[in-house]
Amino acid sequence: MRVVILGAGGHGQVVADICLRMADAGAALSLAGFLDDDTGLHGRAFLGVPVLGPVACLASVPHDAVVVAIGSNRTRQRLAAELTRQGERFAVPRHPSAVIAPDAVIGPGSMVCAGVVIGPTSVIGAHAVVNTGSTIDHHNRVGDFAHIAPGVHLGGDVQIGEGTLVGIGSSVLPQRAVGDWTIVGAGSVVTKDIPSGVTAMGIPARIRQAENGGGRQAVFVTRVSKEKL
Ligand SMILES: CC(C)(COP(=O)(O)OP(=O)(O)OC[C@H]1O[C@@H](n2cnc3c(N)ncnc32)[C@H](O)[C@@H]1OP(=O)(O)O)[C@@H](O)C(=O)NCCC(=O)NCCS
Repeated sequence: MRVVILGAGGHGQVVADICLRMADAGAALSLAGFLDDDTGLHGRAFLGVPVLGPVACLASVPHDAVVVAIGSNRTRQRLAAELTRQGERFAVPRHPSAVIAPDAVIGPGSMVCAGVVIGPTSVIGAHAVVNTGSTIDHHNRVGDFAHIAPGVHLGGDVQIGEGTLVGIGSSVLPQRAVGDWTIVGAGSVVTKDIPSGVTAMGIPARIRQAENGGGRQAVFVTRVSKEKL
């Protein structure tokens, strides 16, 4: 399978590293190159993989699958939607050191970095990032376009909504849910459900005052829909 990586920044280079290590471990996968709209990167190479041109030239690069390697969850969502409409297939880079239960499901375009552990029956949606050294225990559901940052620990039966960022080193207690397009600040501990569209941080994680009308922490109303995944 020839893979094109869209985005040659730090995130794209991590994806390239994972793909190269998968190939070293025997996966039938080769990298065709990066595409990136930053003209300053054209003609350069990272990890020996060339930056071939802008994303718009994808059709002229022979390939079987792509990975949208863009850190912004919103931008990744936008580009993935466009590529889906164009009929592109999405690779699923999984670092060989990741330990993934056989019945866990990883959606198209999602990446699983070095040292990750994903427990039984957990479901990771499409185009999500499960970053270095994070652990996602059993029966979790992580939404499309979510980002589980390095060193995050999710307890059992946790739900993380679409497009949500769980910041570096955070923990979410078992059976808690975090809504869609929310940010959990680095180093937080989520002890109660967190609603959609807010920033929550600290130990215990509390919604930023300005987003909470200056009142008490909002009650979580919309649990993440399993059907979305
Ligand atoms: C929570 C977060 C989004 C806030 O970002 P921001 O809106 O730019 O906020 P600021 O940096 O202006 O900080 C505002 C206040 O919140 C505090 N704060 C920021 N992040 C915090 C965190 N994670 N935990 C506790 N307090 C935090 C700041 O100290 C500051 O407090 P002050 O007003 O008393 O000085 C950001 O700090 C964060 O944690 N992002 C996650 C990054 C991450 O893990 N990325 C993954 C990359 S792989």
